[in-house]
Amino acid sequence: MKDLHSIPKPAVLHPQEGVFQCSGLPEISGDGCFHQVIEVVRDQLAHDVPAASPGSGSEKRIICTKALDMEEEAYHLQIRPEGISLTGASERGIYHGLQTLRQWILSAYKDRGLSLPCVAIEDYPRFPWRGFMLDTSRYFYTVPFIKKLIDALSLHHLNVFHWHLTDDQGWRLPVDAYPLLTEIGSKRQEHRFKGRYTGGFYTEGDIRDVVAYAARRQVEVVPEVDLPGHASAILAAYPGLGCTGGPYRVEDRFGIFEDVLCAGNDGIFELSSAVFDTLATLFPSPYVHIGGDEVWFNRWEACPKCQRRVQEIGLSSPRDLQSWISMRLVRMLTERGKIAIGWDEVLEDTEQCRLPKELVVMSWRGTEGGKAASKRGHKVIMTPNTQGCYLDYRHVDDPEEPGQLFLTSSVYDAYSMNPVQGIHSEQAAAIMGGQGNLWSELIYAGKFAEYMIFPRICALAEALWTPLSLKDFDDFSRRLQVHQKRLDMLGIVQYRGSLGGV
Ligand code: ACM
Ligand code: ZN
Repeated sequence: MKDLHSIPKPAVLHPQEGVFQCSGLPEISGDGCFHQVIEVVRDQLAHDVPAASPGSGSEKRIICTKALDMEEEAYHLQIRPEGISLTGASERGIYHGLQTLRQWILSAYKDRGLSLPCVAIEDYPRFPWRGFMLDTSRYFYTVPFIKKLIDALSLHHLNVFHWHLTDDQGWRLPVDAYPLLTEIGSKRQEHRFKGRYTGGFYTEGDIRDVVAYAARRQVEVVPEVDLPGHASAILAAYPGLGCTGGPYRVEDRFGIFEDVLCAGNDGIFELSSAVFDTLATLFPSPYVHIGGDEVWFNRWEACPKCQRRVQEIGLSSPRDLQSWISMRLVRMLTERGKIAIGWDEVLEDTEQCRLPKELVVMSWRGTEGGKAASKRGHKVIMTPNTQGCYLDYRHVDDPEEPGQLFLTSSVYDAYSMNPVQGIHSEQAAAIMGGQGNLWSELIYAGKFAEYMIFPRICALAEALWTPLSLKDFDDFSRRLQVHQKRLDMLGIVQYRGSLGGV
């Protein structure tokens, strides 16, 4: 077996003569700066291959060495009969190299021994942002599930976990100064279940635990607090922040709701300020996602306070309040040393309130928003629902498949995703990468989530990591057959039907 079938496919792979053989698993050792990464991978392997702890074949070693002249996430891996050497400039590079090896070990550890063909690999990512978003509002996923998912993402060299923490159907972030956000906003009445309340929130301890767990796996956790729309849970807790005063409730219906934060009420910035302080304390990532999607304007149009605000600032219409709010939120984050990200709606109606260039735009309604943003000098993350990035859509058009009705997105669609497609070469550098999103209105259990995520996220991981010239769907499909067995070994539920394509 010369091709080791890893996903994503490495940038450069040279088969070499010979075979590396080891009884048990090789010991992993290396420069002191890689101590923590090595420890994490040792634990992963002890868990993945319980019959053989790392070091049981200690006559052979994986040696991790620091190189100064390599890109941050790159690694070089050399498998020789006498041992395995891995070089990288950073923990990130070394971790990626060890995950490639982890994939091979999952497939090749048999009969109490490991046998790998000799190869030389030079590997590096195509894009710096390779993400996945989980909506924990529509369904409140547990911390152990989130950790399992982050570990599996990191197996594919994905490096961002975008944590959608708030929406109409539940607020999941504790904010000391606003205790009702969690006391009231985290629970919703489920009318289908005799009005029982469901939901929950992550404690500060939970969040720190997830962030640290992810960091050890070289995954950055980027929190999202969706403002000023998708605000039913906030309004249920603090009705004075809405235009009408309510009554409001944490929604158990799905859709877009007309009640949004009142742009004429300074209290919404006081709340945002407390929320951002909390996020700055809990999340080391430089990025905070402020949402901004699907805001309806009819409440603002009918609200005297919003109209007064429009006049005060000299805007021409209540619609312009969205960009005015975005601008203020971006500035508040800048003051806290953070970079704001917004869904592509934030670009609309911005003639009067120009958005600061440091705002990163996440393009979800196709790629047009991303293209426009890159022309206007913003950095962009591509996650178009038209190109395989929406993992809540059905894999195939089959009434027995879970997921969004009427919408499908195949493994092939995910594989075909190309963040810079249609982007002028001058703007290509603005494209940070892309990500897959799982909205959870219909995905109400971690096991269902896994079925929606895998293997489409494997396809997206390759689209975001592997050089474009090496992308080949037939080759990916062949490797996927081997790879899905690895994911089985990790206890991950997967879709196994048609991959779609031509
Ligand atoms: C979105 O899908 N509403 C960003
Ligand atoms: Zn209002």
